[in-house]
Amino acid sequence: MIPAPEAARIAALRAEIEAHNRAYYVLDAPTVPDAEYDRLFRELQALEARYPESVTPDSPTQRVGGAPVADLAPVRHAVPMLSIRTETDTTAVGAAHFDTRVRNALGWGPERPEVEYVGELKFDGVAISLRYEQGSLVRAATRGDGETGEDVTHNVRTIRAIPLRLQGIAPALLEVRGEIFMRRPDFDALNAQQRERGGKTFVNPRNAAAGAVRQLDPTITAQRPLTFFAYGLGESAGWSLPRTHGEILGALIALGLPVCEHRAVVQGAAGLAVFHDRIEALRDRLPYDIDGVVYKVNRLDLQGQLGFVTREPRWAVAHKFPPQEEMTRLIEIDVQVGRTGALTPVARLDPVFVGGVTVTNATLHNQDEIDRKDVRIGDWVIVRRAGDVIPEVVQPVLERREGDPPRFDLLARYPRCPVCGSHVVRLPDEAAARCTGGLFCPAQRKQALLHFAGRRAMDIEGLGEKLVDQLVDGAIVKTPVDLYRLGVLALANLDRMAEKSAANLLAAITRSRETTLARFIFALGIRNVGEATAKDLARHFGNLDALMAADESALQQVADVGPVVAASIAQFFAEPHNVEVVEQLRAAGVHWLEEAPRPTEGALVGKTFVLTGALPALSRDEAKALIEAAGAKVSGSVSKKTDFVVAGSDAGSKLEKARQLGVTVIDEAQLRGLLAQAGTSGSPVQDLFGENA
Ligand code: IVH
Repeated sequence: MIPAPEAARIAALRAEIEAHNRAYYVLDAPTVPDAEYDRLFRELQALEARYPESVTPDSPTQRVGGAPVADLAPVRHAVPMLSIRTETDTTAVGAAHFDTRVRNALGWGPERPEVEYVGELKFDGVAISLRYEQGSLVRAATRGDGETGEDVTHNVRTIRAIPLRLQGIAPALLEVRGEIFMRRPDFDALNAQQRERGGKTFVNPRNAAAGAVRQLDPTITAQRPLTFFAYGLGESAGWSLPRTHGEILGALIALGLPVCEHRAVVQGAAGLAVFHDRIEALRDRLPYDIDGVVYKVNRLDLQGQLGFVTREPRWAVAHKFPPQEEMTRLIEIDVQVGRTGALTPVARLDPVFVGGVTVTNATLHNQDEIDRKDVRIGDWVIVRRAGDVIPEVVQPVLERREGDPPRFDLLARYPRCPVCGSHVVRLPDEAAARCTGGLFCPAQRKQALLHFAGRRAMDIEGLGEKLVDQLVDGAIVKTPVDLYRLGVLALANLDRMAEKSAANLLAAITRSRETTLARFIFALGIRNVGEATAKDLARHFGNLDALMAADESALQQVADVGPVVAASIAQFFAEPHNVEVVEQLRAAGVHWLEEAPRPTEGALVGKTFVLTGALPALSRDEAKALIEAAGAKVSGSVSKKTDFVVAGSDAGSKLEKARQLGVTVIDEAQLRGLLAQAGTSGSPVQDLFGENA
């Protein structure tokens, strides 16, 4: 027995979670933060674990995907799932044809009023029938042949937009008909994820949705971002059926089902044409695919009068838009170089009208995608353009391939960057082939300059995106070297560049000439070399020439530098264009204090120092740099592990502590002595010493 308070809490949690689900997935207006939702969910899970007999199939916890099924059982539809006749004329005239047929079939002469219709979207997904008994989802079935579909209840339960329980007073029996589909951003993210994992990508959102709905294992479906819109009814009992289709949709909304907002009750052929054009104009901005609109006679009594012809109702029609997939010939594959140097293969196509525009280029993403789809030059291919996104080659039409044309090999075809002539390489673990001329390549200029000037790189304050755009677009700056050749005049001609800000920028550029080796290495924008790696490299090699001369095995001696990073660095400096820019930067006066490589042997290696009080000559930072250069560490607090406390004037509690623990206390002069003994003669450590002494 479940105690009454717990039973009540379980019911309340379920209602609250479903209400949040509805707000999030149906109304698109989340009511609580994710963390709060998760808290409620976990509380319900815990209660259900404690009282397993309380678990019902319509509990929100049951969405996660249960056990796999052996096969998809057949389900006979009590009310058949019909198909719709398609109006082939994609212009607004199609609407008039439908209206004429309806009026004729009803026997309505010109003296009768306009027929009232509901205009809806034609979703491009999978038709589904959801059976609710006493408000609870008991079965979900695909359309199949219209008479018999397949039981996919186990999968449909995982779709959060589909309520497991209806809201309010539900009819004894209600079959809801609608469409399961995948939103385009979700589809793109899914494919990107598949690409990353080296899995197979989906051809389009409809195929992805159809595949997900028909899985045997619901845990797979649960990972696919599916959603749902209701658009009609099947069998129903125990409620008074509304008078119109529009009212049915309203009733479905009241029961907590998602119904698309883009629908309208309109009068006559003219009303349909307006709806058609309005939706066609909206199509590209919708976050999901539609292949047209659907018109339905609004009055159910008239629908009854009109009846069916061979499985197609006379009271409904699908009015298609121009398709988003077409077939054409792939003439050539060339490449586009992106801001980061990635080479994207682009298909040059025989012009084809698809998704409302003439398409001549389409992306092929990368070599792996070309291989997976087996696309070859000369193939007939299916091209897809949906929404405002870049058209893509979906697949070749293999039946139309003539002979056995060679496979496309991007690296063989483009050993050199088509933009700058630098070497093209493909790093292990990367999908993209890249131009290695990062500092030199016009395609990568803006990106390279912004990175170079960044706060953690050369720190040129004021050199932001807008300015870089102007400098590059105006051909004033090509490589970072050009920054050091800028004069006030060049800057004064730029948009909105006041004299004062020009002077400030020049001052910032001048200041940036003095930097550190680590910053400079980072500023070069070598792929896979972040700030931390740049510091490691600077410390390890001590000077730029050693780094530039290092081969991959020497590079891998650096802590945290593996084969991929080593290859990146070696390839960067193997590109003469980059080396040229580096040399020019040095010639332009960019310089840094050469750092000694950190010694691995010596008296002070591994020792721990603590600094306290003010030293007579050295600042804190200088003392720290010297100690670290000798291979020792500087810590902030004194402990038994401390080897030396360096005390200056006004030393406080740290000195006290050192004395208590018996740690050796030294002054600046003694520190210098230690460092001098540890350092090798002629090292920069000693040079700096000399200066300060
Ligand atoms: S009504 C009696 N409404 O189109 C009419 N169908 O051939 C039954 N579809 O695969 C269907 N959007 O899944 C209707 N707003 C909509 C629709 C729609 C898409 C699909 C449906 C079926 C096909 C009908």
